Amino acid sequence: MSDFEAAWKLYRARAERALAARLPAVAATDSAASLSAAKAPLQLIPPRLGEAIRYVCLNGGKRFRAMLVYACGELAGAALEQLDAAAAAVEMMHAYSLVHDDLPAMDDDDIRRGRKTCHIAYDQATAILTGDALQAMAFETLGVDSALRVTPKRRVRMLATLADAVGARGMVGGQALDMEAVGAARSPAQPGIEQLSLAQLSRMHRMKTGALIRAAACLGCLTAPRVDEKLLQALAEYATGLGLAFQIVDDILDVEASSETLGKAGGVDRRMQKTTYVSLLGVAKAREEARRECQNARQIAVALGDNTQFLQQLAHFVEKRNF
Ligand code: IPE
Ligand code: IPE
Ligand code: MG
Ligand code: MG
Ligand code: MG
Repeated sequence: MSDFEAAWKLYRARAERALAARLPAVAATDSAASLSAAKAPLQLIPPRLGEAIRYVCLNGGKRFRAMLVYACGELAGAALEQLDAAAAAVEMMHAYSLVHDDLPAMDDDDIRRGRKTCHIAYDQATAILTGDALQAMAFETLGVDSALRVTPKRRVRMLATLADAVGARGMVGGQALDMEAVGAARSPAQPGIEQLSLAQLSRMHRMKTGALIRAAACLGCLTAPRVDEKLLQALAEYATGLGLAFQIVDDILDVEASSETLGKAGGVDRRMQKTTYVSLLGVAKAREEARRECQNARQIAVALGDNTQFLQQLAHFVEKRNF
């Protein structure tokens, strides 16, 4: 096993534990019968909701965003134990985004991470509420988790970083642009819906996927005892390129990979006639774009010094990944 694979495995296992420890335990929920009792404590989580939250979080996933938190955090001088909170928070946020992305009102997908999507395994209302609860839980984790030993001022900065990344200027805004452009790749073009330009598509990808990936790198860096603003800026730039490449490769895998390797259906973008890097440029040119972004990110990591091997190889992974 290469050093990169070993580090990947360690970070991934750590992310799994950090997340599991922060989700509602089965025992923290209560039976429907006792919840209906007038004196049921407010802090109990309805059992079906608690179960759905665990179902969508603890079902595989590469934990790529958590890995960025750990790797960028360690580079910035943060201890691994302190990085658990931000790692769990970004994975909660990511899981919420997937649950909502799969809903019939959005991409209408039945399979995620190799099993039924939340709204199929449960129902649509539960899927909407599971996403809502996870988003709140992510902010709560950054806001109050005692593993994170930073000043209140720093916590606010971290909360603002995450909020900016997932809100209307970031992930949600990107998802809105994505939805507006459904049908755009139809030929002949559907009246009223325009094919996106490459610049618009790149912006959409940076928002819907890149923003959270960038935030993961920044949150790692912001967990360090002292913030090195130059390093923060460099890591943000590194992760911005990586985030764009990550979604370009997702577009490519949507047409090239089997649903078994992906754990989700392929051909979704074509079914919905979305503008993607593949619909606009074809697979070969889309790959070139991803390679360019990843090489650029790798150069940023190289310039940061010898202790960035993992980040350099992570850029290589994003370019070459097949799952
Ligand atoms: C899928 O993300 C959605 C995108 C933003 C492209 P991942 O490919 O990281 O999904 P998991 O977490 O490994 O399932
Ligand atoms: C998802 O993009 C971006 C999110 C914010 C969830 P996709 O819709 O392409 O992700 P997949 O292919 O369903 O994983
Ligand atoms: Mg989508
Ligand atoms: Mg989707
Ligand atoms: Mg996709």
